[in-house]
Amino acid sequence: MALQRPKGTQDHLPDGTPKLSRDVQASAFVYVQDAARRVLERAGAQFVQTPLFEEAELVRRGVGGSTDIVRKEMFTVYYFGDHGGYVLRPEGTASIVRAYLQNGLKQLPAPLKLWTHGPMFRAENVQKGRLRQFHQVDYEVLGSAEPLVDAEAIWLMWEVVRELGLKGAHIKLGSIGDPEDREAYNAYLRDLLTPHAEHLSDDSRDRLTRNPMRILDSKSEGDQALLGELGIRPMLDFLGEAARRHFEAVQRYLTAWNVPFDIDPSLVRGLDYYRRTAWELHHTQVGAKSALGGGGRYDGLSAQLGGPEVPGIGWAFGIERLLLALEAEGVPFPEPAGPLLFVAALDEENVSLAASVALAVRAQARAEFAYRAMKPGTIFREAERRRARFAALIGSEEVEQNVITLKELATGRQHTVPTHDLSLFLQGHLT
Ligand code: HAM
Repeated sequence: MALQRPKGTQDHLPDGTPKLSRDVQASAFVYVQDAARRVLERAGAQFVQTPLFEEAELVRRGVGGSTDIVRKEMFTVYYFGDHGGYVLRPEGTASIVRAYLQNGLKQLPAPLKLWTHGPMFRAENVQKGRLRQFHQVDYEVLGSAEPLVDAEAIWLMWEVVRELGLKGAHIKLGSIGDPEDREAYNAYLRDLLTPHAEHLSDDSRDRLTRNPMRILDSKSEGDQALLGELGIRPMLDFLGEAARRHFEAVQRYLTAWNVPFDIDPSLVRGLDYYRRTAWELHHTQVGAKSALGGGGRYDGLSAQLGGPEVPGIGWAFGIERLLLALEAEGVPFPEPAGPLLFVAALDEENVSLAASVALAVRAQARAEFAYRAMKPGTIFREAERRRARFAALIGSEEVEQNVITLKELATGRQHTVPTHDLSLFLQGHLT
């Protein structure tokens, strides 16, 4: 058997691939990226890119030592003679904050809105919609702690959903509070759970000392059953005055702008840098455990990475999961367009001429040509397979009369066009 791709990765394939599903269709990725670009750039966001691998320390400090991502899912990058201090990035936020600090982006007008898209890497248990290399669209705003910025970020995420025509998505909104609120909540959880420590999974017992809130996010069914029995109070009950007012302001803006959301009092995100506003985007047909996207405020992250205090907030979508949701809803995608023209020669001595016609048309529109001479029937068939609008034939007769024979494939109408008028003729058919 020929070599296979690594588990948990996908090839993004061309249109027309047999049994092509949306979440591996390369043009569907571009479609989502373009929709995000339109929405985000209209809001003033600028596109950035950071390396696919980073210092492991950045991820450890940024994402947090008690998270599954850092404890179990990091891909370490080795190269000859190296100590393995690099990892493939599991997400984009820590990298964007690092790039902001390292490149003096504080000089730019604040708040600074940035966005990116690209592959992320997590060594997870592979399932549908849970991959080891997946792709995110990521939006980050740095330099403002105003709740209006939070509301705009959520509005933008919702706007991408609307732009894509997705109907079954909904936002779960919560707040993780300020660090002192979280400390109070962690103390509460520790007191409540320590007497039951022996019934917790090994991971969660470990989290009891490091970061008890992570237990709420546990994937163990036993842990979740125990949490259910204990009737745990939600994080929202522990919000301090400042975090509560911030949370209320965000809700007021969203309500005023008709962005629908449900409050999730016990929302816990899988990364440690969050503070205050946090949310997830879910979809009825993709499964409760697989959010389409998530985000939140991370005002402490910059200082955590050794920089000054820089408030920040952002979100990311998983593009594969968005595509699965669009597929499940049967949302129509634009049909991939073919070339305006497919040109072929009827005999070998005119192959170069046919090619040069296509090359000239490319100044205006997409044009393809045949690399060998063909019979008329083959030319029409090849043009149809490529979904071309016109097939063009060039044989010795055409050369003699200085014309090109064109057939419009949808109608079967034939046209004989003087070679020097081809551009004008096609211009009239550009829609
Ligand atoms: P996250 O919730 O870890 O947040 O990931 C965001 C989205 O990426 C998820 O909702 C999901 O759609 C997708 N995703 C995550 N892991 C996988 C996977 N293994 N396979 C397929 N899709 C996956 C973050 O990454 C934060 N950086 C978001 C953020 C930006 N917060 C503030 N700014």
